[in-house]
Amino acid sequence: MDVVVCPDPDAFAATAADVVVRALAARGAPTLGLATGSSPLPLYRELGRRVAGGVLDLAAVRAFALDEYVGLPAGHPQSYREVIRRDAAEPLGLDPALVRVPDGSAPTLEQLTARAAAFDAAIVAAGGIDIQVLGIGSDGHIGFNEPMSSLSSRTRVARLAPRTRQDNARFFRSVEEVPRLCVTQGIGTILEARHLLLLAQGPGKAEAVASALEGPLTASVPASALQLHAEVTVVLDEAAAGGLRRRELYAGPITL
Ligand code: F6R
Repeated sequence: MDVVVCPDPDAFAATAADVVVRALAARGAPTLGLATGSSPLPLYRELGRRVAGGVLDLAAVRAFALDEYVGLPAGHPQSYREVIRRDAAEPLGLDPALVRVPDGSAPTLEQLTARAAAFDAAIVAAGGIDIQVLGIGSDGHIGFNEPMSSLSSRTRVARLAPRTRQDNARFFRSVEEVPRLCVTQGIGTILEARHLLLLAQGPGKAEAVASALEGPLTASVPASALQLHAEVTVVLDEAAAGGLRRRELYAGPITL
């Protein structure tokens, strides 16, 4: 695992963007896994700046989002379909026809489950994800795989933990408005991406980051599953790195 602790927001954004650009560069049909929420915003802004500046072209990139709420009406500003369009697809200049978000709109559990399985199969059919961007929940979740999710889970309908609903209430008028269910790529699905990029900022993530990186591999901390993956980059600010006890071991990528 390459763990990079960044001294300032510009370094955070540039480091994360460089990792994405490198992972997509050598690919014939590049595929990017998108996260929503606050953590990837500096990355998307930096990639968007490079696209606007003409030094990067992502128009041919295929993208898959990590997750979606169940039951929000079409066009709801907090549905991840909308968030991905606004925060990622538009600034990055992605082709909307190549961007796919899990479908949380089907009326029955059977249909939601079938569409989740079809989403999972579409990732495989696209040749897999070259680089998956991830945030981490304060409870250690990745995607919306809450604690005790199977480490080999696939894209499916899942429950949001009370703590996640509380954390995400800031995007809604009240916690009651935060959906109780979601569709999320599974941990097994996420682990199939060729490269994982975990982004975390702020003291609220320090405990989860430390448990994921330095604690045991356990379903109690879904992000600890990253320990199973051979190509992981973790980009942190100082506050999110605040709980790490083995800082001397995180020297960043090996260079000669
Ligand atoms: C979002 C997602 C979640 C978030 C996590 C952190 O698509 O899958 O795992 O990455 O909840 O959210 P923020 O970045 O808002 O703190």
